[in-house]
Amino acid sequence: MNKFLAGAAVVVLAAIAGSAIAQQDPASLTQGVCSACHGPEGHSISPVFPNLAGQQPAYITLQLYAFRDHQRGDPNAQAYMWGMASQLSDDTIKGLAAYYAAQKPAPGQPGSPVLMAEGEKIYTKGIPTQGVPACATCHGAQALGDKAFPRLAGQHVDYLAAQLEGFKSGTRSNAPIMLAVARTLTPEQMKAVATYAASR
Ligand code: HEC
Ligand code: HEC
Repeated sequence: MNKFLAGAAVVVLAAIAGSAIAQQDPASLTQGVCSACHGPEGHSISPVFPNLAGQQPAYITLQLYAFRDHQRGDPNAQAYMWGMASQLSDDTIKGLAAYYAAQKPAPGQPGSPVLMAEGEKIYTKGIPTQGVPACATCHGAQALGDKAFPRLAGQHVDYLAAQLEGFKSGTRSNAPIMLAVARTLTPEQMKAVATYAASR
């Protein structure tokens, strides 16, 4: 994370510690709190912070529950989202999910032709010799997601690759399906499939 972002995050965390976010409605939270990291309308500039615009509302809801219940516990989730989610009621979470789902998703950007070609193969066909299923089966042909299956299209490549690493190493351990999917992926394969999925 660069200095500016680190600074912004500290300011936000200090502000949150001082003023209860529990009392704020979803609309003012998205603008006054979440936007500091996830960007205006859910378009973030750093790959540490996932884009939320156009994400599946059911998936957002489940993740906020998982942060609140300390189920999604990779280091960045603990550092940034546990405290944040601890003050959110079920109704506020529903409102936040509806807000971000309604925002225009970030457009996908193609990566290098080599990564795109390898990534497309993995995404659409899986890697049978390694027991990796096709991602398209659950995330959709265009990576738009559906309900609890997250949208990957338009997401930061480095964020997606980091999550695959987290599933494999077990730091993001509350998603048995993805633990099985990522088990045998190499870092190069993660980068390739993340590049292709994000480009949709
Ligand atoms: C201080 C920075 C910061 C703030 C403020 C913040 N987040 Fe996050 N958020 C993060 C980081 C970092 C992650 C990724 C965690 C990880 O890598 O596991 C994240 C992840 C998420 C995710 C999961 C997305 C995905 O694709 O899995 C959701 C949903 C989310 N945040 C919603 C919110 C909402 C809603 C707010 C405002 C109430 C908010 N965040 C405020 C830093 C922040
Ligand atoms: C059988 C269904 C299924 C298959 C196949 C599958 N996924 Fe997933 N994936 C999921 C589910 C469900 C989640 C949400 C996990 C959670 O709730 O934490 C997920 C989450 C993810 C995430 C985290 C997204 C975020 O915003 O944090 C990434 C990245 C991902 N999958 C990539 C892949 C890739 C790449 C493949 C193919 C190699 C793949 N998935 C195959 C079901 C699947």
